[in-house]
Amino acid sequence: MQMDSVCVHGGVCLQGKVRIQGSKNASLPILAATLLTKGENVVYNCPKITDVFQMKQLLRSIGCKIRERCDCVSVNADQIRSGKLPAEAVQGMRSSVCMLGALLARCGEVTMEYPGGCVIGARPIDLHLKALEKMGAIFHIENGMIHGIVPEGFCGAEVCFPKVSVGATENVILAAVLAKGRTRIIHAAKEPEVVALCEYLVKCGADIKGIGSDCLIINGAGQLCGCCMKIPADRIVAGTYLFAVLAAGGNAWLEEAPCNEMQAVLQVAERMGALCQESPMGLYVQAPEELQPIACLRTGEYPDFPTDLQSAVTVAALRAKGETVIEETIFENRFHIVEPLKTMGADIYVLDERRILIKGGKLLRGRNVEAKELRGGAAMILAGLMTNDVTCISGCKYILRGYENIGKDLRELGARVVSV
Ligand code: EPZ
Repeated sequence: MQMDSVCVHGGVCLQGKVRIQGSKNASLPILAATLLTKGENVVYNCPKITDVFQMKQLLRSIGCKIRERCDCVSVNADQIRSGKLPAEAVQGMRSSVCMLGALLARCGEVTMEYPGGCVIGARPIDLHLKALEKMGAIFHIENGMIHGIVPEGFCGAEVCFPKVSVGATENVILAAVLAKGRTRIIHAAKEPEVVALCEYLVKCGADIKGIGSDCLIINGAGQLCGCCMKIPADRIVAGTYLFAVLAAGGNAWLEEAPCNEMQAVLQVAERMGALCQESPMGLYVQAPEELQPIACLRTGEYPDFPTDLQSAVTVAALRAKGETVIEETIFENRFHIVEPLKTMGADIYVLDERRILIKGGKLLRGRNVEAKELRGGAAMILAGLMTNDVTCISGCKYILRGYENIGKDLRELGARVVSV
């Protein structure tokens, strides 16, 4: 059982190696997709994080048989009861929205709590609902609940997204793989997590063309059979630890880091002066004596720099003497770490809703700070590495949503991080 706070004793360079866990954002839609299959699925390398634990609870609550063995999870969805998700299971977990497409495709109906926004943004689901309606779904929203039915079963359709959405792309894929006819998705998200979902579904017997591109063509299959799937390593966790090395100084071997999915991140790290050596087994990263400022950095849809590493790169940029402007183009409220960083003495300023200015090079002071959300919370631990005293971060329940054990991982790299 992990405590809700960690204390970081800063001032030490990192050195060591750590294995990167399986991807949260690949495992969630793949677990949802098991609803569409007959027989057993064996999912390897599922990260042991609270979002995945909650997803497994959701699947169990509607009748999935789930067994955990050492590092794999077996899921059999043959005995699904209904698409009624218990509110307490869905509460506060946005990733349950990826159940919409799968439950409607499997059960023909779904009732779930309307997935609210979160601290990083309103997180609307209009793109999901409009696309699924085009394929035959009918939604009714009342008292904070979504009730959806698909009376005739899903029919293939031409879905052209006005803006890229990872979750909406995943929902349409899950609705299309067993639909009648052909679905074409234009402006599909190209994130590696969408690719992993498609690869899993093809292994189960789905007919998906254009995987990895922004145009997917899916011919509905008659049936999908459960299969074995290894969850790819988490590119965001790998990037978090890469920026931890740049923030604290030193070097690290990040075993299984998916370098081919991190090109934009590695380019930024090299612009900051890091040495990055890629290999099929992982990534070696070495921080420079003097970190260079990036001048300006924009987050964007894949393959651009990921929004989920915006907080981590912000902290690393505080170590670089000079100015950095970071522009967040995906979410409208993702600068929660500015205030706590200011209490630690950082020269950081919100320029407008989408941009912050960092004047790096100042030594940060240890403070008691609070994590408000997943990636910002992880970034505050990185900030603690940059001080010469102690920083205590509360609210670690948010961090546990996406990191199996960030304290243990950073300790393996030589950091002095203790749970309290
Ligand atoms: C996924 O969220 C990830 N979550 C997020 O990771 C990630 O930050 C995000 O993709 C962007 O890469 C999971 O995969 C579980 P979007 P998702 O739909 O699918 C707007 C983390 O830290 N939008 O691609 O919710 C939306 O508001 C999390 O691991 C609509 O307007 O993101 C946002 O501005 C955080 N209407 C933009 O699109 C919609 O119907 C991109 O959102 C849907 C989205």
